[in-house]
Parts: sequence; C-alpha cells; structure tokens
Amino acid sequence: MEIILNCTQDSIKKAAKALKDGYLVAFPTETVYGLGVDASNSTSVSRIYEVKGRPTGHPLIVHISSISQMDKWAVDVPKHAINLAKNFWPGPMTLILKRSQLAKDFITGGQNLVGLRVPSHPTALMLIKEFEDIGGTGIAAPSANRFGAVSPTTLDAVVEELGTYLSNKDLVLDGGAAEVGIESTIIDCSDVIPKILRPGSISKEQVEEVYGLQSIDNISSSKVKTSGLLISHYSPVAEVILDGKTSPADGFFAMAEIQTPRGAIRLGSPATIEEYAKNLYSVLRLADQKGLKRISVIQPSGDGLAIAIRDRLSKAAAR
Ligand code: TXA
Ligand code: MG
Repeated sequence: MEIILNCTQDSIKKAAKALKDGYLVAFPTETVYGLGVDASNSTSVSRIYEVKGRPTGHPLIVHISSISQMDKWAVDVPKHAINLAKNFWPGPMTLILKRSQLAKDFITGGQNLVGLRVPSHPTALMLIKEFEDIGGTGIAAPSANRFGAVSPTTLDAVVEELGTYLSNKDLVLDGGAAEVGIESTIIDCSDVIPKILRPGSISKEQVEEVYGLQSIDNISSSKVKTSGLLISHYSPVAEVILDGKTSPADGFFAMAEIQTPRGAIRLGSPATIEEYAKNLYSVLRLADQKGLKRISVIQPSGDGLAIAIRDRLSKAAAR
C-alpha cells in the first residue's frame, strides 16, 4: 500500500487512475474514511469483501460528485429525495433509491435499490470528480475497517485496520481527522414514506422539515437489508459498558462536565456533542491500543446527533 500525505490535485489524479486500473483507494470523507473502488468493476469490488473480511451480499454505497449524477445510478427518483439531496449534499447523507441498470447486483447486494452519497470532504469530492473525468461513474466505498470493527476516522486508523490486507498498488489518502466522526444518515426513499435506516448527524427533524411530513425512523417497517443494522457492529476488542458501574483500571469516556470515577483511565472529555461524535471512534481504538479490558462510557442525552451516537454505542456494546 502507498500512503499519500498532503494530497495535491496531482496525487488525487493518480489515485483516480489507480481506481480506474482496478486498485483500491482508501480516502477521507467528512464522516469516516472509506475504502474506495470502481463501482462498475466487479473484480475490484470483490476485493473489498476480501480486504474487509465482509460477508458477500452486503450492499455498498456509491459515492458520486453531485446531484446531477444521481440519474445514472437511480431511476424514478421521488421529488422528496431530490429535495433532500438539494438540502444536504454534499454532506453526511446516503439516499436509498430504485437502482438503474448501472447498479449491478455486486453493488446492491442483489436488491433493486442503490445507496448514493455525495460526500463533502474536499479530497473525496476531488477524487470522485477526477475519476468521473477519466470515464468513471462512481466510487463504491464502505467504511475502511474490517467487518464489525470500529470505523476509522484518521489515516493511522485506516492503516491499523487494513494495512496488512491491502496490496502494494492500493493507495491510502490522508485527509486529517474526519470532521463528523460517525457514518452518514441513511434514508430509504424507495417508498412513499421515507425511513431512516441509520441515524447520523443529519437528524430525523432535519429530514422531516425538508419532507414537510413525519418521517418514520422505525426501521422494522423497511424491507431493506443493511449491515449497519446488525445488532453487533463498530466493536472494539475491549468490552464496552454503557452508563454502568466503572471499576478501577477501566477506560472512561464521557462529556467534560462528568467527573472521572476513582481509578478509571480517562480517554476523552468532549465539551460538545459534536466533539463527542468526532472523538468516539478514536477513543474506542485508544482503549484497545492501551490494552484495556473494559471501557465505561456515559452516553450523551438528547436528540439529533446524540441519537446517532447512542445507536453506535449500543452496537459497540453488543456481543
Ligand atoms: O458515512 C458513510 O456512509 C461511510 C462513508 C465512507 O461514506 N460509508 C459507510 O459504508 O458507512 P458502510 O458500507 O460501512 O455502511 C453502509 C451501510 C451498510 O449498512 C449497507 O448495508 C447500507 O449502507 N447500504 C448501502 N447500500 C444499500 C442498499 N442499496 N440498500 C440498503 N442498504 C444499503
Ligand atoms: Mg461500515
């Protein structure tokens, strides 16, 4: 694997070419780092599953450069989905839509639906644009972690997760620490009433405002299968204890105003909910790097981003 620090337009062009040649390129987004691949190349896409150790048949999000590319991958896009895209793209939102012929089974997991997202990180956007300029149509990218593990939010975390699994012609692009820190909000727009399949930093309330109607966040009403919905996911090796008793030598993570219990090892003190989300995954990683057996986490209360954080934490804590 080749690591590219301080990405310039030239190095991003090189990465776009590597994608076109069938190699994998891990790249930064504003949510978490993605492991990118040419979404129309079935051989390369199959390597994603090997490198991640992910069971096949899980669908991948296709990353595109703008709303104008939506029609390539999706058909019968409802007006409310276009409104959402106009409001929140580029940004941390994935729309699930009826697929076009371009979205093959190896991308959609055999479903008639495709997930699309326009990320806002400048390196990600430039990579997608450069890839489209040389004839690419979209970059499929799951989070750049091994299956079930914690998503990477820094270059070091990507290398730690996938370094030994990538080949020497695959690339990893640096883009600093991911700004949001947790994965995109996924909204199923394939039905009359939208459903939030995975909460993220774009909240249910923000979605409802654009729709002008109540969106259902009860995912059990959706027929869509999505791996982020597995009960256990985003898990470090350390056992994650939520709002429970902290023992001496446990790692500890909570908002800054909460005191560290006696003997516990403080791993972070975010002052805001945004900072909590941004630091969450690196804190879970830190617990493993320190070889801690347990990490005790006090969950944030409230709506919006706090809902997404509690969703990830409940999965990190499930065994
Ligand atoms: O923020 C994100 O969304 C990051 C960055 C890299 O864009 N990507 C990400 O990808 O989290 P991944 O593969 O780790 O999680 C994507 C989720 C999976 O649970 C997958 O099942 C679901 O999106 N998904 C993708 N395409 C889908 C489809 N056609 N139908 C249903 N679910 C889909
Ligand atoms: Mg993932």
